[in-house]
Amino acid sequence: MALPLRSLTPAPPDPILGLTEAFKADSRPNKVNLAVGVYVGDNGVTPVLSCVLEAERRLLEGAGPKGYLPIDGRPAYRNAVRHLIFGPDHEIVTSGRASTAQTPGGTGALRVAADFLVQAGASKNVWMSEPTWPNHPQLFTLAGFQTRVYPYLDESGRSVDVGKMLGALRSAARGDAVILHGSCHNPSGVDPDADTWAAIAEVAVENELIPVIDFAYQGFGFGLREDADWLTGLARPGLEFLVCSSYSKNFSLYNERVGALTIVAADAERAASALSHVKIAIRSNYSNPPAHGADVVATILADPDLRARWEVELAEMRNRILGNRNRLVRALEEAGVPGNWEPIGQQRGMFALLGLSAEQVARLRDEFAVYVVSKGRINVAGITPTNLETVVAAVKAVIEG
Ligand SMILES: Cc1ncc(COP(=O)(O)O)c(C=O)c1O
Repeated sequence: MALPLRSLTPAPPDPILGLTEAFKADSRPNKVNLAVGVYVGDNGVTPVLSCVLEAERRLLEGAGPKGYLPIDGRPAYRNAVRHLIFGPDHEIVTSGRASTAQTPGGTGALRVAADFLVQAGASKNVWMSEPTWPNHPQLFTLAGFQTRVYPYLDESGRSVDVGKMLGALRSAARGDAVILHGSCHNPSGVDPDADTWAAIAEVAVENELIPVIDFAYQGFGFGLREDADWLTGLARPGLEFLVCSSYSKNFSLYNERVGALTIVAADAERAASALSHVKIAIRSNYSNPPAHGADVVATILADPDLRARWEVELAEMRNRILGNRNRLVRALEEAGVPGNWEPIGQQRGMFALLGLSAEQVARLRDEFAVYVVSKGRINVAGITPTNLETVVAAVKAVIEG
């Protein structure tokens, strides 16, 4: 019997990871990859943080048997995750009304969150920003959700269209899930300001929505606490929400698959009950999480010296990205590239949207060997003193036609 494939044609490559494969196969010497979603330094290489190497050295010294982890992961790690999101003294933490499961990366957290919501009998509608990370619609659809979009950017593509966003969220039905990018919106780099976050929280409370916060870039925006401030502001009686953390970027631990799902419930009893269902979602999927990445993170967060080192290394990545943003804006303006580039200097996180058409994106790749994602999403970290001029000249050429 043949496999019941709906079509025998191959599926298209992943819109982001597929570009990396094409980039690798490109033999042109001056090629530039701004498509990848991984931090790279000026040498084009993803750093291994020194705090990570030290934690790994200590883990190796104390290495023990490699038995299974609990379904929901290591307790010390799970506590550390909550402290990192909310701060150790926040009422959400001290009351015990948040429960956390260790997951393989932020993607694992999102998928467990989606499966848990389905199991719990939640609404099958999930709202996501337009644009958003392309894995959001794919992941939630495959988990059984209908996806709905809320407009996010204004005409310029450089700021949040607050009215339209809130208007769409007000039209969501009671119990619908809504994905919010916790900081450093991917792909736009455009985040709501404090007042807008407060208004979003109001709508979530009034319409009884379930926020699912995708928190993949804590510390890449303004700082570890600053990026989480708005999120602690969601702590309203009765508002239950989920936080999907990823430590791929802020610990530069991409291939270790380390993340967590945190459920904030009305009280400790409901949080414990929710976790028992999350454990079923995990057990039936990958059984239990991998240990190493979470052990590295927990070791760093538990040791004041390593933690301080981590915060310095994280700030170096954040500040280099900010420097790159400003260098890019200056270079585009000095080269007279048509467009309003200045807001890119104020945006946060690894990504910026140049706002290019599909044709312009294709020309960047085919004529100039500059790889960017659709609409001209670029990884700002990928800009280096060596490639800046090439990138700006190529963008100028495709915009001027
Ligand atoms: C918005 C967003 N969410 C989630 C993830 C997934 O992170 P992880 O690699 O930890 O699965 C990414 C990674 O690119 C992301 O950009």
